[in-house]
Amino acid sequence: MKDYGARRVVDDVSFEVSAGEAVALVGESGSGKSTIAKLLCRLVEPDGGSVALEGVDMLVKEKRGPSLAFRSQLQMVFQDPFASLNPIHSIRHHLERPLLRHQRVPKDKVEARALELLTMVGLQPAADYLDAYPTELSGGQRQRVAIARALAVEPRVLMADEPTSMLDASVRMGVLGVLQTLVKEQRIALLLITHDLATARLLCDRVVVLFAGRIVEDGPAEAILTAPSHPYTQALMSALPRGVPRAPKETHPMLPSPAGGGGCPFRSRCPESTSQCKDQMPRLEPVSDDRRVRCFNRKAVHV
Ligand SMILES: Nc1ncnc2c1ncn2[C@@H]1O[C@H](COP(=O)(O)OP(=O)(O)O)[C@@H](O)[C@H]1O
Ligand SMILES: [Mg+2]
Repeated sequence: MKDYGARRVVDDVSFEVSAGEAVALVGESGSGKSTIAKLLCRLVEPDGGSVALEGVDMLVKEKRGPSLAFRSQLQMVFQDPFASLNPIHSIRHHLERPLLRHQRVPKDKVEARALELLTMVGLQPAADYLDAYPTELSGGQRQRVAIARALAVEPRVLMADEPTSMLDASVRMGVLGVLQTLVKEQRIALLLITHDLATARLLCDRVVVLFAGRIVEDGPAEAILTAPSHPYTQALMSALPRGVPRAPKETHPMLPSPAGGGGCPFRSRCPESTSQCKDQMPRLEPVSDDRRVRCFNRKAVHV
């Protein structure tokens, strides 16, 4: 949960990510994706709720703030690789600093481990990158360095906040491939934040769809993306480009903002909306063993 002043921007959001699993957090800009990631790694302190790591509520265990050990368990890769690396420091500095601060390897092994990390993210020959500066690298290469830096402390959970949205299409797949390998081979738990359902489908086992700070639908990626149940997920799916792009026939009107008041925030855009949606907030309810939907008028889910 998070109130920014008078406005509650994330509420009633709960989900799990297991080792070796990739979960996509999907939703439009402003839906609260980054706030959730910041709440999880405690860059922003939650106003309530719990953040459990292997069953232990870290908000209770580490009341006075996250420990160094907690920070090493949960690492974040940010959207903008141009801003997240410091231009005055070499790649060596970016990697050796966390290795030393978190005492991951003895001093005489630090360079070897930094080279190993660069190799792990596909920057080879690693020695060519170690003494380079961020400005000498492309966006994709920088994002790989940011991933290597996150891996230096051997996290269990990696959160990647729109990691490829600022990269050229040609290098996106490479970076996503690195993340996929980490999940499959190192059994890292990945929370991939994206506004792109195609990316979610490609990489993730499960999808959590967010609208106006609340989960509207979640479940297995394949099931949700082939048979979306919530009208918002359906709208997102129908907006995915298919085939050869054509010029739009008409300019699209601005989408209405999420509706305020007590009812469903999606009702201002929803083709299925009824008077019940105006008066009440639908609950996120299970519709099968592994799917939940927050909608009074949800379509039957075929599984
Ligand atoms: N530090 C902040 N202070 C006030 N409002 C904020 C702050 N950070 C985010 N918000 C607001 O919270 C909402 C969710 O933001 P964010 O989590 O960044 O969404 P997303 O990552 O899905 O685009 C937005 O309406 C945004 O304007
Ligand atoms: Mg964001």
